[in-house]
Amino acid sequence: MKSALVSSLLFALALAGAVPKKVDYNGFKVLRVNLNEKLDKLEALEKLATHVLNPGKASFVDVVVAPENVDAVNALSAATVITEDVGAALKEEGGFSAYAGSETWFTAYHSYADHLQFLRDLQAGYTSNSAIITAGTSVEGRTLTGIQIWGTGGRGSKPAVLIHGNVHAREWITSKTVEYIAWQLLTKYSTDATVKSLVDKFDFYIVPIVNPDGFVYTQRTDRLWRKNRQTVSSSRCVGRDINRNWPYKWDAPGGASTDPCSETYKGVAAGDAPENKGLVAQVQQLKASRGIRLYLDIHSYGQYILWPYGYDCNLRAENDAQHRNLATRAASAIRAVSGTAYTIGPSCSTLYATTGSSTDYTDVTGNSTYSYTYELRDTGKYGFSLPANQIQPTVRETWAGIVSMLKDA
Ligand code: ARG
Ligand code: ZN
Repeated sequence: MKSALVSSLLFALALAGAVPKKVDYNGFKVLRVNLNEKLDKLEALEKLATHVLNPGKASFVDVVVAPENVDAVNALSAATVITEDVGAALKEEGGFSAYAGSETWFTAYHSYADHLQFLRDLQAGYTSNSAIITAGTSVEGRTLTGIQIWGTGGRGSKPAVLIHGNVHAREWITSKTVEYIAWQLLTKYSTDATVKSLVDKFDFYIVPIVNPDGFVYTQRTDRLWRKNRQTVSSSRCVGRDINRNWPYKWDAPGGASTDPCSETYKGVAAGDAPENKGLVAQVQQLKASRGIRLYLDIHSYGQYILWPYGYDCNLRAENDAQHRNLATRAASAIRAVSGTAYTIGPSCSTLYATTGSSTDYTDVTGNSTYSYTYELRDTGKYGFSLPANQIQPTVRETWAGIVSMLKDA
């Protein structure tokens, strides 16, 4: 009786859309389509694609395409196959493993609950120089959770370093990398002179997953989801791009979409995503108190280090040369670890235009001395589903780049 009731209840929920079926990517392909900047074709392509992997690029666009749409995409424009079978590629990523503590954390991907547990356990080991912090609440009511780390000067006494990860839900390697920074800073503080000098120099605010709803959605429903999970009355499509919603140059043309179905939907008004409200308050609070020395927004993929501006390809930050200097040295430090090559430059002219992006906001409104976007491994072979055996090499090389920046900043 009971189980019949439960199963009919589940059935009703499934009908209501409350228990969405997980997207099955078996047989789907990643195609690279050369559009030669033709925007009308881009619109048609977006309709045929299940996901656009590099939204914003007008030259070549990487799209996930269902088997039945492959011919139509090829008819639109010459396409090359990047991934034969997305379902098979996702299996190579490795399943979740339970939380294990220690550096084995960086050898597998994990559930959101385990990510929270990792932070709590890490903090519990270093109660005299760290604290759990929060930065507001997501659409579905999850707390944006991070860790603050300080050194000899005491809590909140030094210029701030602010680090955000996993703003785009599918970029799983980024939360691992941001956690590795916190882990290194705390576990090496008493044994490594370089780490000690950095922890004593700055007040660190580290939030590994600033888009928790999207992250959970990528684990339960659609591995390739990018945005948050906010609805809008005018459309059935879900999600704002948190990195197009920051209230600086949100209105400028060309770097985001006004279509709720787009991967880069900017929202109805500047800063109207709850996640952005929390992150904006965090930036404002740090600006008003100790000031922000360095802001890092960690994304994947592409292997770039980018700095302002995103909204205008001709504009340069007043300290553009210093931004370039730190990025050059960070890229060398990364290359020295494992040979991984990074491209560096101002974000609009180097990658593509973005409006309402985090680093434009922290640079101008947040008055951060330095603001960078990292795009981690790789350059497209695995893309967002970087295999588990690349987590450790990625977090280690990126740590070297970030240490270089922290020394220089
Ligand atoms: N790939 C990221 C995005 O599309 C980063 C863009 C870099 N530009 C910037 N202004 N931060 O959101
Ligand atoms: Zn991203």
